[in-house]
Parts: sequence; C-alpha cells; structure tokens
Amino acid sequence: MAEVNLLARLPKGKRNINARTEAKSPEIIAISRQYGELYFDGPRTYGYGGYRYDGRWIPVAEDIVKHFNLKPGDRVLDVGCAKGFLVKDLMKVCPGIEAFGLDISEYALRHCEPEVVGRLQLGSADKLPFPDKSFDAVLAINTIHNLERADAIRAVREIERLAPGRGFIQVDSYRTPEQREVFLEWVLTAKFHDYPDGWLKLFSEGGYTGDYFWTMVE
Ligand SMILES: C[S@@+](CC[C@H](N)C(=O)[O-])C[C@H]1O[C@@H](n2cnc3c(N)ncnc32)[C@H](O)[C@@H]1O
Repeated sequence: MAEVNLLARLPKGKRNINARTEAKSPEIIAISRQYGELYFDGPRTYGYGGYRYDGRWIPVAEDIVKHFNLKPGDRVLDVGCAKGFLVKDLMKVCPGIEAFGLDISEYALRHCEPEVVGRLQLGSADKLPFPDKSFDAVLAINTIHNLERADAIRAVREIERLAPGRGFIQVDSYRTPEQREVFLEWVLTAKFHDYPDGWLKLFSEGGYTGDYFWTMVE
C-alpha cells in the first residue's frame, strides 16, 4: 500500500469557499447528495456548476496507465465514474484497454460521453457487481467519502476483492484542525472524512492493500 499522487497533473479546480458557505443549507446538501442534474450541471451552489468534458483527465489517465503498467486488453474499473470522462481518456491514451465505470447517478450515466456508452453501469461502490479478481486495476477518485464509514469499509473491501493490491483510492482529507475547518465549510456530499491516519485505519479495516491519495482544500 503506497501513497501516490496520480492526480498530480490534473488542473486545480477553483473552489469558491465563501460563495458556497453562504449558500450551504441542509436542503442544498440533500439535493447535492441525489447526484442529479443540479449536482452536476446546475448552479455551483449544488456541486460542480457544469460538469463538462474538456480533456483535463488525459494526463491523469496517462499516469494511471504508467503506474499500473496497463496494456491493451487489461481491464480497469472506475468506481464513481460520473459521466465517464476518465473511462474515455483511459481508452484514448491506451487503445485496446478495457475500461469500465460504475456510478450511483442515473443522471450522470444518462449524460455520459458517447465513447463510453455500454461501458458504464449503475450501482453502488459498496456492492460491486463483478467477480473476484476480475480487474487489473480499480480506481475510486473522490467517491468513497460519499459513503457512511461502515459502507466505505465495505467499498474498499470490494475494490480489494476485484483487484487485490491494484486499487487506487483518492478521498477528502486534511492535515491540520485549521484545514479541517475550511474543509467543513466547503464540503457538500461527503458523509465520512478524516485525517490521513483515520483513513489508513479504515483502509486496513477493509483489508485494502492498494494505493491511495488525498484531496485537500489548499
Ligand atoms: C465528486 S464526484 C467524482 C467524479 C469523478 N470520479 C471525478 O473525480 O471527477 C463523486 C461521484 O461519486 C458518485 N457516487 C456517490 N456515491 C456513490 C456510491 N455509493 N457508489 C458509486 N458512486 C457514488 C457520484 O454520483 C459522483 O459521480
């Protein structure tokens, strides 16, 4: 298990913390957690404020292919794939790779990239509908923190079951109490979050032996 920043080459998104803090309410959080049109393509208050393909995941896909030494014919699953941007880019940078995605959002899957039609499946990270050892790598980027802690443990166990030692999980985290405060003001959908040590404990409870990294508010 290793800490590795596979998103190092992803352009940083602009998080307007103050704008969101003012607007955040239990109703807005509940709507965001439905992962529907408002979360992806509605006003920024509910989430992305417009989730559109712009090729920014291409360098990340290149780094993932390199890190896992993926080759044509290898199978990769992106858990929490949303509209399939990373699935599309994995196929772009490694032609012949068998990339698939799974997401809980019907809206995202219905509005996926044309190149990934037939490759994305509706489902939840804590119950992956695939056989043991059926993938060469399983990714879950900014997804697992959206589950309650017990379900997050089930999710990492599932990732391990599908690709033992060949997972990559990136989750919301913080290193200091000050950073945690800023994160709490900003967070919308995460149901569980912790310092890296807390996450490492969760990973180990799920028997996870893959790699991981953190999304931190800067
Ligand atoms: C912050 S987005 C990340 C999307 C993409 N991985 C990325 O990094 O751009 C979180 C995604 O997790 C999905 N999601 C939330 N809960 C989930 C669950 N229990 N199982 C699978 N996907 C889930 C949401 O629908 C959404 O697409």
